[in-house]
Amino acid sequence: MAIVDIRDMLKHAYDHGYAVGAFDLVSLDFLQGVICAAERARAPVILSLAEPHFAHYDPEIFMPAVEAAARRAAVPVAIQLDDGTRFDSAVQAIRLGCNGIMLDVSHESLGENIRLTRSVVEMAHACGVPVEGELGCVPGVQGEDAEHHPGEPSFTTVAEARGFVEKTGVDFLAISIGTVHGRLQDRARLDMQRLKQINEALGIPLAIHGGSGLKDDQYRRLITHGVAKINYYTALADIAGRQISENAERDRDSGYSGLAKGVAEAISGEVERCLRVWGSAGRAAEVMAQCRPWQPVEHVIVYNVLESAMEEMPKVMAEGRCRLGTIPGVREVVTGEAVREDARYRFTWLVKFCHPAVIDSYRDHPEHVAFANSLFRPIAGDRITIDYQCIE
Ligand code: 13P
Repeated sequence: MAIVDIRDMLKHAYDHGYAVGAFDLVSLDFLQGVICAAERARAPVILSLAEPHFAHYDPEIFMPAVEAAARRAAVPVAIQLDDGTRFDSAVQAIRLGCNGIMLDVSHESLGENIRLTRSVVEMAHACGVPVEGELGCVPGVQGEDAEHHPGEPSFTTVAEARGFVEKTGVDFLAISIGTVHGRLQDRARLDMQRLKQINEALGIPLAIHGGSGLKDDQYRRLITHGVAKINYYTALADIAGRQISENAERDRDSGYSGLAKGVAEAISGEVERCLRVWGSAGRAAEVMAQCRPWQPVEHVIVYNVLESAMEEMPKVMAEGRCRLGTIPGVREVVTGEAVREDARYRFTWLVKFCHPAVIDSYRDHPEHVAFANSLFRPIAGDRITIDYQCIE
């Protein structure tokens, strides 16, 4: 199957009364465990990469594996940056292949939350990428992720949520109604009345963070009132940790692979349980049929340059790779020179865009305009430009 547009995926869940699971990944065991569970359950799934976890792994190295697994999956998949806090990390996530951005600047004042979220929404929408904002504080309590979510709980209010969505333009909203990040001591006290009112006021897919540890009946009631996405991590981290401890007790001399044995399977079992409780199991085929595939675009220029400019070409191309590569929505810039002397065109630019929306935003971006006007157009001669999508 394929990577699909998260907007369509979450709209399908919202309209049909189920929630898609968004599972934070911190290793290949998590990645394989989540994909395997989604395939067994025939469920759409979101692979989630949380900015606070970038302290444990390098997203530049991990993301290609995540993207490859998503493309190979037999179910519809989306890839989302989770708990992003900076404009730059959102740009980086899109460059690395995320097709959704979740921005959590809910610890800032309301005004600052709106300002930062608005700026990320403008950038991401120009790349065709939808954004989830967060309003209200979902604090960390206990467990390995708790420290990443300091602060006291503060619930989302209906009036603020309405204003926030209008002013920022977010596509989905993460709300605070009583969940916490990390381990739960007792049954969570969820404010379902508040959720119901927020849902009635907004009418957009809502997301719950701090998804671990709720009871099955609580998940079902959340979904009844507009929750179309549940973020889930701590329970998976604890299951993985327990498996490793059991392996260590069984054989104190175990090496790394002995200790990690069974971790992916244990994660997979828990993910599959969630997918069934949240109602996304069995939905893969209809989601696939109704969601737009997430299809990149390749912007190709083949060109000649004036004879007098031949010498400076390596410098111009290096500068282009560097400057154009920073434009939001650009995934890679490749420059080339013809192998044969008699080629009709001597040089190429291959600029990989994450989505067709980038054709316009790239053309108008000040960095592109400046580079094209000052360095490229003065030396470029005869050329052909085409934006194309691969046909599979
Ligand atoms: P838990 O770790 O509590 O499941 O929360 C996960 C989460 O919300 C990630 O954004």
